[in-house]
Amino acid sequence: MDSNVRPADMARITTPELAQAFIDEQVVALKEQIGDGKVLLALSGGVDSSVCAALLIRAIGQNLVCVHVNHGLLRKGEPEQVVKVFRDELGANLIYVDAVDRFLDKLEGVDEPETKRKIIGAEFIRVFEEEARKVADDVSFLGQGTIYPDILESEAGIKAHHNVGGLPDDLQFELVEPVKLLYKDEVRVVGKQLGLPDSMVYRQPFPGPGLGVRCLGAITRDRLEALREADAIVREEIGAAGLGDKIWQYFAIVPDFRVTGIVDNQRAYDWMCIIRAVNSIDAITAEVPELDWPLLKKMTSRIMTEVPGICRVAYDLSPKPTATIECE
Ligand code: XMP
Repeated sequence: MDSNVRPADMARITTPELAQAFIDEQVVALKEQIGDGKVLLALSGGVDSSVCAALLIRAIGQNLVCVHVNHGLLRKGEPEQVVKVFRDELGANLIYVDAVDRFLDKLEGVDEPETKRKIIGAEFIRVFEEEARKVADDVSFLGQGTIYPDILESEAGIKAHHNVGGLPDDLQFELVEPVKLLYKDEVRVVGKQLGLPDSMVYRQPFPGPGLGVRCLGAITRDRLEALREADAIVREEIGAAGLGDKIWQYFAIVPDFRVTGIVDNQRAYDWMCIIRAVNSIDAITAEVPELDWPLLKKMTSRIMTEVPGICRVAYDLSPKPTATIECE
């Protein structure tokens, strides 16, 4: 697939059979494009890069070099899941980079949201570039989980179309983008057919800067850990209530101020957790779902008893607009 234009007669991939036909076709095309060459891929654990990686593993096996950068801002269990699924189950050639201290040191004391985003983005490219340089003599292709909306948005001037982007000019790779003509729902059907776990295939949208924009203000390690634990509880309870695939995005936020509470019969001065859930089609506007009171109470009670440092929980009722989905 050389073209960036989806053919008008291309059938929408809605069934396992259509997904299998796409996979078979892609494996042949990828083998032809790559030959005995090697491909480097930044594997975030999101559905697009995961499906791209799984397809490439089918086509070229060990000649795919996946790099997973743990920047410390991933959700609970995510880096472990990437290693388990790709290295242990699919036998991928996976480089796991523990860059947690590097990112958190760079972010120390930085409270302005856009500056935080820029630091996280720039540092990500730097870490990936370092890994790319280590294998550059050996690798001539760069895999990317670009999908069709990325191309459409890029052409419409809404956002630049690159997933890794920003690699220096002296690192020249030919792009390999096996899912670039697929819509998100099709990527999911293909991912399912490739045997990826539902938690990866149906993963809710997650911002590139990760928990960094939900640990509001200047990130501290202890507040970030509290956020990670609270977020895991929100995801677990929404999943247990059967709402996991019915709500567009649901997560926790921990602002950088303290509130008074009573913990173990003593006055506490701890953080507050905000539960955020929104439904949206395109993230341009969003509505807040009317979650059942018992579900809200259960999440509240679990967060307050299981997460050290949090003594109050709120549910954010703000639609977009006037609010945005994220708080930063
Ligand atoms: P907002 O907060 O602008 O979010 O209403 C709209 C959607 O975009 C996601 N989001 C981001 N995604 N990098 C990303 O990759 C970012 O910096 C970023 N900020 C917001 C957000 O999660 C929501 O789905």
